[in-house]
Amino acid sequence: MTLAEIEQLLQQSVDRALGALAGAKSADELESCRVQYLGQKGFLSQAKKSVGQLPTVDDKKKAGKLANDADARLGKAYDEHKQRIEAAAREAELAERWDVTLPGRRALRGRRHPLTVTADDILDVLGALGFVRAEGPEIEHDWYNFEALNVPRDHPARDMQDTFYIDDDVVLRTHTSPVQVRAMLAIGKPPIRVACYGRVYRNDHDITHSPMFHQVEGLYVDGSVTFGDLKGTLQVFVERIFGAKSKVRLRPSFFPFTEPSVEVDVSCFSCNGTGSGGATVGDDGRCRLCKATGWIEIMGAGMVDPEVLRFGGLDPDKLTGFAFGIGVERVAMLRWGVSDIRLFFENDRRFLRQF
Ligand code: PHE
Repeated sequence: MTLAEIEQLLQQSVDRALGALAGAKSADELESCRVQYLGQKGFLSQAKKSVGQLPTVDDKKKAGKLANDADARLGKAYDEHKQRIEAAAREAELAERWDVTLPGRRALRGRRHPLTVTADDILDVLGALGFVRAEGPEIEHDWYNFEALNVPRDHPARDMQDTFYIDDDVVLRTHTSPVQVRAMLAIGKPPIRVACYGRVYRNDHDITHSPMFHQVEGLYVDGSVTFGDLKGTLQVFVERIFGAKSKVRLRPSFFPFTEPSVEVDVSCFSCNGTGSGGATVGDDGRCRLCKATGWIEIMGAGMVDPEVLRFGGLDPDKLTGFAFGIGVERVAMLRWGVSDIRLFFENDRRFLRQF
């Protein structure tokens, strides 16, 4: 072949080969193109072989450059198209296994349990009032749970709470009040102002009572803590938890570890303390939440009995204090209108995700 013939061969064939490479639809088609055009019997090899037979160095140079340029263009086109085909094949394979158009599975986002929300709110209010967190064990000595709280063995007051006994001296605590004495003994000197949140246990179950439930205990002991301080603290407490219009009412009651003792009522936030109408009104026009009384009982409280201060290592002639204990489930049930306490413990997400 002459230089002109080589030039012509390359000119004609390169475009054809590029077209064929670009048109290849599979790896197999691409491979046969490669063999046909770039292989040993292809025009490129033929052209390269002819280069060596050209008569002059000058022609060899020119033809060699043409052949090398053609080789480079085709090689590049081949590599690029090969990548395209492989990517397409990979995608086709994926599409076969996974339908990427299907809606995804939504990730579950956790949230606080309604009892945790309620306890956190209660503890936040008490924290703002200067109460610091305290803790005690759920498996408690009889002494802390009863005796140091002025409930001697065989005293009828023991029957106020139906106790789970581990043995003669150890119980599942029936309330958070044992933390009162623990805090007094641990802190030792006034002011003692603690809040304790935790589980308590009583052998009792129906739709408003669970054998395990939660309480928040508050205790404040100092040089001149009065019953007025208790009432003021409770008033702020109900305003923050049940709404700014809430009122507090104290009714005489009895606990062995407080004297005087009270039951604490909050004005009904459903009927606004009127006993009628409101969000929970019945067919007869009466408020069902407070049973038309206008008041809802929420906790027990009182002035710490001098005997309990003494058990806590404090001098009742110099110090006074108040204490209160609130049931967390009860507050949560009132707040969200939950009628069955067991819902809190069944972990049914349809219930829990409503809060
Ligand atoms: N411990 C009492 C109860 O569980 C509540 C209470 C706490 C009463 C503190 C007075 C003072 O019923």
